[in-house]
Amino acid sequence: MRTPWLPLLALVPAFAFAFACSGGVTSVADVDGGADGGASTALPCAIDTIVEKNCRQCHGSTPTFGAPMPLVTLDDFKASRAGTTTYQLSQTRIHDPARRMPQPPNAPLSDADAKTFDDWVSQGAPAGNACVGGVDAGSDGGGIGATCTPDVELASPDTWTQPADSADDYICYGVDVPVTEKRQAIAFLPRIDNKEIVHHILLFQAPKAVSSKPASCAFGGERDWKIIYGWAPGGQAVELPPEAGYPMDATAHYVVQVHYNNARGLVGQTDRSGVSLCTTNKIRPNDADVLAFGSMNFSVPPMSTKDITCNLQVPSGLPDIHLVAAFPHMHEYGTTISTTSKGVDLGSVANWNFNNQPWFPVDHVVKAGDTVTTRCAWKNPSNQPISFGEKTGDEMCFSFTMYYPKITSPQWNWAVPAAISKCTNTPTP
Ligand code: HEC
Repeated sequence: MRTPWLPLLALVPAFAFAFACSGGVTSVADVDGGADGGASTALPCAIDTIVEKNCRQCHGSTPTFGAPMPLVTLDDFKASRAGTTTYQLSQTRIHDPARRMPQPPNAPLSDADAKTFDDWVSQGAPAGNACVGGVDAGSDGGGIGATCTPDVELASPDTWTQPADSADDYICYGVDVPVTEKRQAIAFLPRIDNKEIVHHILLFQAPKAVSSKPASCAFGGERDWKIIYGWAPGGQAVELPPEAGYPMDATAHYVVQVHYNNARGLVGQTDRSGVSLCTTNKIRPNDADVLAFGSMNFSVPPMSTKDITCNLQVPSGLPDIHLVAAFPHMHEYGTTISTTSKGVDLGSVANWNFNNQPWFPVDHVVKAGDTVTTRCAWKNPSNQPISFGEKTGDEMCFSFTMYYPKITSPQWNWAVPAAISKCTNTPTP
């Protein structure tokens, strides 16, 4: 196959986003071996919500105040305890006036919550739809949920506690998902725990394991992390069309980055937000991947604005590229970003706001010879020029886009479309 972009690859920098999260410990999230994108091993959302509100102050992943065990996962409830199961013992203690749980002075469960819990126990504590964005993933989720039931939860074993005196924090944790045979992720769903402080969430794939302990990290993560999914308030799950799935070939090292915003200085806010995946072993015909439109070649002079329009001519030799979701991305000096092809909007933000970066569903095919146009504009109030780079003070002009079929040529990498785009100043109307 001809690879017309090959000579241009020298232009693609060994891409560096930023320094940041320490590597190290491998944490393991279990993929339910039997799951096929349908079977769930999640605590049903209704139960999760009751337990979160009434029990986890003490029965958290690290139990506190003398509570003897965590009540976080379905497995925690299924575990045997005092000659019975933890869920049965929980039911007993919820109704035991002498030794009631939650223990006084905490209020008892409401009658409605107690009934929900009793019904669940009487059915033998079955798995159900996990909570996604605070609602049952099986419901339409107010637009957040996908049509599948998540079977993999990317979550840290540790709860993050937001310092009251820190307004803005980028926190990362790693989750390894071991797979023994090839699977595909078919949907990415936000799992928002604490709406008071969660500002946005990005999901990356890393080449090696990253510590599972939530720790400070730079926006955009580390060099060689690849962004796969992002959520911002108002954002939705990204669900791949039935003919495509995001490949999980071997142990996948994921990194979840949560941006916390605590401008109000709230005290004692904790969070366990993350991302849920629906995965399947019924392999779909196309692997999906992520590429970036835009440019890495621009500079915004001091005390001025810059507005560029970058055209990518899709190289010959590539298959038709089905675009399914887009995540436009700039830093704090950005004012506008848009990507279009043949008049079709492929993800645009007219008034760029660094603090609100949504991931847009798109549905469009670009073919060899088509032009994809990305426009980026910035305002530089400083007395230094600003150009492309990984630090927050540098700028970006990327529209990360999920597409299929995955381009597997060894000369290809996700930054190629941006690297071979040609930019000119946007003509003033
Ligand atoms: C304020 C802290 C606190 C809250 C809230 C709380 N627990 Fe407990 N729980 C404890 C402590 C401390 C113990 C150990 C002492 C005891 O058994 O009473 C305990 C014990 C238990 C036990 C018995 C474990 C055993 O091995 O005997 C169960 C079951 C239990 N809690 C379930 C629950 C459930 C279900 C909820 C929520 C509906 C809940 N707890 C809320 C503090 C709490």
